[in-house]
Amino acid sequence: MPSNTGFLNIAHRGASSYAPENTFAAFDRALAMGVDHAELDVHLTSDDQIVVIHDDRVDRTTNGSGPVADHTLAELKALDAGTWFSLQYAGERIRSFAEILEHYKSRIYFHVEIKARPGTEGLATRTIDMVRGYGMTDSVTITSFWKQWLEETRAYAPELLTGWLVPMGPGSQWDDSIVDQSLEMGLTQVCPRADITTPELVEMLHSKGFVVRCHGIFDEALMRHAVGCGADGMTINFPDKLVEYLEEIGR
Ligand code: G3P
Ligand code: CA
Repeated sequence: MPSNTGFLNIAHRGASSYAPENTFAAFDRALAMGVDHAELDVHLTSDDQIVVIHDDRVDRTTNGSGPVADHTLAELKALDAGTWFSLQYAGERIRSFAEILEHYKSRIYFHVEIKARPGTEGLATRTIDMVRGYGMTDSVTITSFWKQWLEETRAYAPELLTGWLVPMGPGSQWDDSIVDQSLEMGLTQVCPRADITTPELVEMLHSKGFVVRCHGIFDEALMRHAVGCGADGMTINFPDKLVEYLEEIGR
């Protein structure tokens, strides 16, 4: 069972620098690196199934086109989700959330990002029902940029750990009200974008009792910056580099 203590090295959409994001290939690659935490994104299909994909359209990461929400799960599973990344991954498939939990239960701790915009009826509660159904409440943290999903998660599943991805949108800046809002919601983690993270911010969030795990690590300099600020973890596309760096600095 993956541990949720120590520095959180979280393979972002799997080891997505090396294999097509959010696929078995990317999660397997993380495991092969000795990394047993992974992040993934969930959306709902037109037939009300939870599916693991980042964008709200299939165009970038498959050979299909159009919104995820306009496809049935069967239609999505018929798409090629690997060739866009490399011919080596031709035939890689979009997976349902259930398939991912089934396949990696007891092997990967998942940081599940509820990606779709609020208004997608039932996405948070359905995601939680599935986590509960697989007996994985102790191996999942629910995250989102959207406060409404986190409020719904806290109300429906107080047993689950939760993290708020902040601030919303590229280029946006830290807003002090995030702290009070996070306290009010009873969140476990605050997840600041790495480029706006400072040692002072991390210290302040720690003093309020939050775990601080960063996102938006685009290169190794940002990776080292987040570690140097005292963060407790990060999502990262190249978790092998973080393994090496943590070893190098004795963490
Ligand atoms: O760790 C959170 C991160 O996944 C948020 O950004 O766009 O990659 O989903 P994004
Ligand atoms: Ca994500």
